[in-house]
Amino acid sequence: MNLFDVYPLWDIEPVKGLDTTLWDKNGEVYTDLYGGHAVISVGHCHPHYVKMLSEQLGKLGFYSNAVQNSLQRDLAARLGKVSGYDDYALFLCNSGAEANENALKVASFHTGNRKVLAFRKAFHGRTSGAVAATDNPKIQAPFNETANIVFAPLNDLEAVETELSRGGFAAVIIEGIQGVAGIYEPTAEFILGLRALCDKHGCLLILDEIQSGYGRTGKFFAHQHYGVRADIITTAKGMANGFPIGGVLISPEIKAVYGMLGTTFGGNHLACTAALAVLDIIENEHLVENAAKIGEYFESALGQDKALKEYRGKGLMIGLELKDEYVGLRNRLLFEKHFFTGAAGAGVIRLLPSLTISQETAESFVNAWKELTL
Ligand SMILES: Cc1ncc(COP(=O)(O)O)c(C=O)c1O
Repeated sequence: MNLFDVYPLWDIEPVKGLDTTLWDKNGEVYTDLYGGHAVISVGHCHPHYVKMLSEQLGKLGFYSNAVQNSLQRDLAARLGKVSGYDDYALFLCNSGAEANENALKVASFHTGNRKVLAFRKAFHGRTSGAVAATDNPKIQAPFNETANIVFAPLNDLEAVETELSRGGFAAVIIEGIQGVAGIYEPTAEFILGLRALCDKHGCLLILDEIQSGYGRTGKFFAHQHYGVRADIITTAKGMANGFPIGGVLISPEIKAVYGMLGTTFGGNHLACTAALAVLDIIENEHLVENAAKIGEYFESALGQDKALKEYRGKGLMIGLELKDEYVGLRNRLLFEKHFFTGAAGAGVIRLLPSLTISQETAESFVNAWKELTL
């Protein structure tokens, strides 16, 4: 059997990693400023992470959600404390799309409504509801088409008000910072206005922090830069450093009912252990602060760079929009300088490194960039 051929692949196979360094099968060394798409939050093979997961694997890898699992309760308590959402409840699942799918469902159960407002260029995942709320017809099958989702332009409160006034909305869903689109931020005024409009029209505000959360922007969640509180927050990528997991943080206003949500694998012992190890490392190594600090360095070093049309983002969620003559730089960074980076189309390079990235590694990237754009 062959693999279902849906990914265009680089001809590189990493076989070993340590912090922000990767080795491929030929022994070539690379620096990882992509973090496997914002997933590697605490560095590859962090010793504390490896130890906790190895020990848990030797005790119990999995049991179902029919029995007590104190690892889940520990994770909920720790996550509530570190995120400032102590009074919220946690539902655990296995991926970002699944977290959003459950968030949309909870909002619909709670309000009794079926419509959802999402934003132009948004990406919320590839399952049925999540992909319907994703503004990319190319990844929506006819089966996913629904009249329940409407789109408004980001940062256009008037358009949101016009839509919500029509009634019947369960939720507004918005990324903390739009990632896949190429790193676009909501303004503070917009996100505070959204909160007020959701309250006025009786629908819930869902913050998709799957890419922007877990300290990446220099606050635990990106929306916390604006002092706004969401009714539901979804998380996934950085949560367990590559072990599949998703989380839905749910306001105490929303009541749980037995059977309302469920999953076979979600919240299993290994996933919770991986997530607990990540929180230990984020706290012990002050990684949210490091993300803010190294983010400031990148902005000071590249903010006015001559190869850029625009520098966007916060902390370690960075979009570098290239001038036309520099398109192709991402491949040159990879093949000539051995730096992995992300992208949004051909024109935007995305930096999504581990929050452990050192000043020295950040400087080595900036030096490589400057050499290639001389
Ligand atoms: C903001 C956002 N939401 C949801 C998802 C979907 O997550 P997953 O691929 O884990 O389903 C992604 C993935 O890139 C994302 O960036």
